[in-house]
Amino acid sequence: MKLTDIYWHLKSDIGKIEKEIEQNIDAEHPVLQEASSHLLKAGGKRIRPVFVLLSGQFGEYNIERIKHIAISLEMIHMGSLVHDDVIDDAELRRGKKTVKSKWDNRVAMYTGDYIFAKAVEIATYYNNPEIHRILSHAMVEMCIGEVEQIKDQYQWNQTLRMYFRRIKRKTALLIAISCQLGALAAGAPKAYEKQLARYGYNVGMAFQITDDILDFVGTEKELGKPAGSDLIQGNVTLPALYAMWHDPVLKPRIIHHLDENVIEKEEMNKTIELIKQSGAIQYSKDMADRYLSKARMALEELPDIRPKKALHQIADYIGDRKF
Ligand code: IPE
Ligand code: IPE
Ligand code: MG
Ligand code: MG
Ligand code: MG
Repeated sequence: MKLTDIYWHLKSDIGKIEKEIEQNIDAEHPVLQEASSHLLKAGGKRIRPVFVLLSGQFGEYNIERIKHIAISLEMIHMGSLVHDDVIDDAELRRGKKTVKSKWDNRVAMYTGDYIFAKAVEIATYYNNPEIHRILSHAMVEMCIGEVEQIKDQYQWNQTLRMYFRRIKRKTALLIAISCQLGALAAGAPKAYEKQLARYGYNVGMAFQITDDILDFVGTEKELGKPAGSDLIQGNVTLPALYAMWHDPVLKPRIIHHLDENVIEKEEMNKTIELIKQSGAIQYSKDMADRYLSKARMALEELPDIRPKKALHQIADYIGDRKF
């Protein structure tokens, strides 16, 4: 099932959010404007606003009220992508040049900061300090997550625990609060808000694990960037960790890539092929499925209304998404 088929009933609201993000990044400065809208126009799934709106439907849904938090969260995501591509030294995103490669690292730094600042500004619509506390806490954690990633880059000798802690911070938390703040902004009962946050956290963990799987199994066309980017960039993800522990041939190969920074194309392609054959993908998929089951469990106590079905379908979609 396609993501857009799942939230078809919210299509015009998502369109509205899209348009308002465009207006919001209509920067005072031409370079900031160009760099931000370059990323925005390159596309993206807008899955965080979808989580906000679906969760908001468990309360008093009013698009004019809830849209601000959806816009803010998508912009926090956007800002983090601009910075992420600096850290990962990535040339392509969403099939287009990254801000850091079209301009440079300094422009990317300011563009990311600018988008973050705008995101925070938009959230000032709400008088509720709890919303701001949750939002800023997540931003702090995301920064720590990315810094941890720099620290862990090229570290082949890292634990599963380090990997999970990293993905929790850089990805799962933002998705968790998308659900939570959607419910909160719509005045949904506290118990629902808590369950939705739990759903979002688990779906978010599965989402990043899937992203890490796709980096190995996807094609450049599907991914909008070259396959195997993570290993080339020194990011040790779940499939690589598994392969290192379970395959005596792969361990020295992967260490060699990471330690000597050997990224010669043919060698790298061979390693990626071997990782795919090592059982690492199935192991990682099983791990993602475990999180998805927990996400589905978190929905159990919520009332049986249409958005609940959609949240179930999103869990299914993440389980077998191709890009
Ligand atoms: C990419 O997120 C970064 C991760 C957290 C895995 P998305 O896959 O949501 O990126 P876009 O917005 O659709 O491009
Ligand atoms: C997610 O990690 C990045 C953020 C949450 C900012 P990745 O580095 O895997 O994201 P992609 O693959 O570049 O989109
Ligand atoms: Mg990246
Ligand atoms: Mg990264
Ligand atoms: Mg990735």
